[in-house]
Amino acid sequence: MRTLHSDRLVLEPVDSRNARELWRVLGAPDLRRYQDIPRLRAEEFERQVRSRPRLLQARVTGRFEWLVRAGEPIESVGWVSLRINERAPDIGEIGYSLIEAARGLGYATEALGAVVEEAFEASELGELQACCVPENTPSRAVLHRTGFREVRLLRGGAMIRGRHVDVLLYAVARGEWHRRRQREAVRSQRS
Ligand SMILES: CC(C)(COP(=O)(O)OP(=O)(O)OC[C@H]1O[C@@H](n2cnc3c(N)ncnc32)[C@H](O)[C@@H]1OP(=O)(O)O)[C@@H](O)C(=O)NCCC(=O)NCCS
Repeated sequence: MRTLHSDRLVLEPVDSRNARELWRVLGAPDLRRYQDIPRLRAEEFERQVRSRPRLLQARVTGRFEWLVRAGEPIESVGWVSLRINERAPDIGEIGYSLIEAARGLGYATEALGAVVEEAFEASELGELQACCVPENTPSRAVLHRTGFREVRLLRGGAMIRGRHVDVLLYAVARGEWHRRRQREAVRSQRS
């Protein structure tokens, strides 16, 4: 996996060297309200990270994750994940979160854009998807700003704190993403 750079962020691939750093971020308050984050011991989390694939490339499956780092001095403020399930190897599922202190600055949109770009460039995925509960308006806004479109409501589509909840499915296809990037490039040439 590659380290990704955007205007204000460094997205560091999660591997055995920084797994504990991500584990600390996962323990931050107010991350579990709208999503299921398993509470694992640090050693177990590190073991899971060690078993993940190292390279994001064509036809690979598994979980990939980037630690989002920002600020001066630079610190870890969140993560973006990409999961490719072997039952649907053409689709990547995206997840993301920021610690409370790093919200409202545009970091999530910036980080997600960088990971979407990398996912389409490094792999042969045809589509990226993301799910969020309808009441998570900040998350829906991030997806909308990044270029995901709302597909449909999945009844009981996720499990949060042991309960089935409805989630909205969002998606962006490879072609849609490239057309968007081209439009952005034309716009920035004109300005
Ligand atoms: C979902 C989540 C990542 C969204 O974070 P966020 O900070 O609202 O999203 P962004 O980082 O893209 O920031 C966008 C906001 O920053 C503002 N902003 C300020 N400076 C900005 C800049 N330089 N560039 C862009 N946006 C900027 C935008 O106007 C926007 O504010 P608004 O929501 O009032 O319109 C965050 O709420 C979170 O981690 N929640 C808990 C976990 C979670 O729900 N994860 C998703 C599960 S589906």
